[in-house]
Amino acid sequence: MIHVQEIHKSFGNAQVLKGVSFDVPQGKILALVGRSGCGKSVILKHIAGLLKPDNGHVFINGNDLCNLSGRKLLRLIERFGFLFQNGALFDSMTIFDNVAFPLREKTRLNEREIREKVLSDLDQVGLIGSEEKFPSQVSGGMIKRASLARALIEEPDIMLFDEPTTGLDPITGQSILALIDSCHKRFGFTGIIVTHEIPRVFSIVDKVALLHEGVVLFYGSPSEIMESNDPIIRPFIHAATNGQIKECTEPG
Ligand SMILES: Nc1ncnc2c1ncn2[C@@H]1O[C@H](COP(=O)(O)OP(=O)(O)O)[C@@H](O)[C@H]1O
Ligand SMILES: [Mg+2]
Repeated sequence: MIHVQEIHKSFGNAQVLKGVSFDVPQGKILALVGRSGCGKSVILKHIAGLLKPDNGHVFINGNDLCNLSGRKLLRLIERFGFLFQNGALFDSMTIFDNVAFPLREKTRLNEREIREKVLSDLDQVGLIGSEEKFPSQVSGGMIKRASLARALIEEPDIMLFDEPTTGLDPITGQSILALIDSCHKRFGFTGIIVTHEIPRVFSIVDKVALLHEGVVLFYGSPSEIMESNDPIIRPFIHAATNGQIKECTEPG
């Protein structure tokens, strides 16, 4: 369903992606892991159609994103849901209005239908009772939950999560992962989660891709990466489980 083929991307002299390839099969979730600054968000932006590769292709259901533009591209990416790294809500809107926003913008549902859908969505993320609050009045975990509700409200075919738990305490982070898992079981989207939550994320994903120095160093199942004896992969998993991932100073 998502097929990333030999993507190359440079910014100025910095060669960030040097031929990145992986697949996410229909209805499955892939964890995209790797050190900070190595290009994970850049990959998500290519899949979201926000960046174009210098070389290589992104296929969504067999459609090459690079060959689409304007209305056709928009129609395809409208079926995506995003939870960006700083997935902020609109401060001036209540939680309810934030979650209702995509429905009011993109659908012809009437206010009664919207209310029903938003409340059911908020119920699924445990935010009933907080719908009239503003983002400034709720915790970081609740903001993430509301962002997740907003991303899921249109029941997207593809969900892209960029560090959905970063900045949250471990328990709240765990509840966000559990929520992603239960939403996935309900909607069956195809998804990518960029995360440092190793090994916790492995219980909710089907595939793992490890990005290292601009290429996918490992692609396989969670149990395969946990069992790997590769001298580069092992310390990475080990450091991550000890919460010691270092920034890479020079991308690529
Ligand atoms: N629009 C851009 N212009 C220039 N450099 C960029 C741009 N986007 C990302 N980069 C650089 O690409 C590298 C990878 O960034 P990113 O994908 O955000 O890393 P991460 O793996 O932490 O998500 C970084 O060195 C970043 O500075
Ligand atoms: Mg990032």
